[in-house]
Amino acid sequence: MNSSFRFAHISDLHLTSLEDVKVSDLVNKRALGYLSWRLRRRREHAPEVLTALLRDLRQLTLDHIVITGDLTHIGLPSEFQQARQWLETLGTPTDVTVVPGNHDAYVQAEWDNTFALWTPYMASDPGLRTITEQWSDHEFFPSVRVRGRAALIGLTSACPTAPFLATGSLGPTQLRRLDEILDQTGRQGLFRILLIHHPPVAGTVKWRKRLTDGSALSGLLARHGVEMVLHGHAHRPSVVHYSGARGSFPVIGVPSSSALGSKPDHRARYHVYEVCPSPAGWTVRISVRGYALRDRCFFGEDQRDMAVPCPGN
Ligand SMILES: [Fe+2]
Ligand SMILES: [Fe+2]
Repeated sequence: MNSSFRFAHISDLHLTSLEDVKVSDLVNKRALGYLSWRLRRRREHAPEVLTALLRDLRQLTLDHIVITGDLTHIGLPSEFQQARQWLETLGTPTDVTVVPGNHDAYVQAEWDNTFALWTPYMASDPGLRTITEQWSDHEFFPSVRVRGRAALIGLTSACPTAPFLATGSLGPTQLRRLDEILDQTGRQGLFRILLIHHPPVAGTVKWRKRLTDGSALSGLLARHGVEMVLHGHAHRPSVVHYSGARGSFPVIGVPSSSALGSKPDHRARYHVYEVCPSPAGWTVRISVRGYALRDRCFFGEDQRDMAVPCPGN
């Protein structure tokens, strides 16, 4: 990052249509998810908002776009194909980073016709995946992508759950690897941006939607420090300044970027961040862009600057 790194954070697009799904695809939890889409979600996540989102993103000068999961509704292979096509419209895998959400891992599914379609957008930079051990072919997380002096560190909290639960989990292996990655990227003086679907701070969402090992993640972040955590899942905005042994850092949730807004704070928004080095660490300018129902376009809602110190400063 010679001068600044400017990127957009979008989330919870739920961009797929279930109009043509077969009844045979709708077993177990997927039947409930389909019902929820039929009754509510298909009107809430609207194609015209996605079109406006693409138009708005294109008129900005961005270095990167991050997506924190829930591109689909019930994680069907046909939805992964629709989402892949949308991603290609959005940008190249070099310029777009994706982490999965709980709706993308709705039930146990075959890797080859689901997440395999998104791997170029999820994978670490070549040579950055293996830290100390051999990873299996389907393991992509934590992912690490370095752009200038920014490190985009992706986690997956997406895992199938019982009906009516929307929890997420990271698991001990991913947490152990994250421990090493935070240490290494911290030593390199990079601006570490952690991407995760579920909010790590307890109480941000209801119990049935929580990150089950959120306290383990929070402990790890407090120990190593991190410059910023970005998440989705709640479908409403949230900002928490989390304090740890190495200083405080912002944990910021963006609402769905495709919602018409059944409640006012659920209306589509996304965030644009501009990260600049400063004598004490970093300055981050946050611009909130929201969807206007009447004009059918996104506009600048709010802008503020935040100082993010280097851990230990
Ligand atoms: Fe969602
Ligand atoms: Fe979610």
